[in-house]
Amino acid sequence: METLHIRRGLVSDAPALTAFATRTFTEAFGADNRPEDLQAHLTASFNVARQTTELIDPNVATLLATMDQKLLAYAQIRHQSPPPCVTQEKPVELHRFYVDHRVHGQGVAQRLMAAAHAAAHAFQGRHLWLSVWERNLRAIAFYRKEGFADVGRKDFYVGKDCQSDRVLVAAVRPSRPDDASSRHP
Ligand SMILES: CC(C)(COP(=O)(O)OP(=O)(O)OC[C@H]1O[C@@H](n2cnc3c(N)ncnc32)[C@H](O)[C@@H]1OP(=O)(O)O)[C@@H](O)C(=O)NCCC(=O)NCCS
Repeated sequence: METLHIRRGLVSDAPALTAFATRTFTEAFGADNRPEDLQAHLTASFNVARQTTELIDPNVATLLATMDQKLLAYAQIRHQSPPPCVTQEKPVELHRFYVDHRVHGQGVAQRLMAAAHAAAHAFQGRHLWLSVWERNLRAIAFYRKEGFADVGRKDFYVGKDCQSDRVLVAAVRPSRPDDASSRHP
């Protein structure tokens, strides 16, 4: 049985994270966006300089889930002002949450979410908030299973395309000792 390991990202992870983030965003949303909008988003959001900045930012926790040194998923938790529909106390944003499609439905996302809660707790957060494209039904179903509630909406731009995101909130859960590194089912 292989071990899934979740750890904080290092500056040296920036090139691999950039490649993984570019691939997973493209796989998730490439078919539903105009190529020029997709490319504009990829160029602005995923490049080694940007990921390096995020990895060294003390207000951002970048979590990498690996198995046999292979990157399988990542999440970013950050201090960020929420939209007005988030009224819960001490909100911390779950900014990015991506799992390689080859391991969807295998529990990796649940393990990463537990680590995201622990990171939010370490940021003194009491609630995690996130925004998710209203058409991303799989992600919405996953977040609902994880206890997130829909509190409203916000705009999200992919290139020049203004899309409607749902805004979801969950109370931060206390972490368990086996959350950081665990057996893959
Ligand atoms: C979102 C994500 C992290 C969830 O991880 P996952 O391993 O796929 O999650 P799970 O399989 O445990 O849960 C997904 C649920 O959605 C259901 N589902 C799948 N396709 C669906 C659809 N089209 N409509 C509604 N529900 C759907 C699944 O059946 C499952 O529910 P179940 O366990 O009750 O059967 C992962 O799919 C992912 O990385 N997606 C691409 C990137 C992304 O969208 N990130 C979120 C950005 S906000």
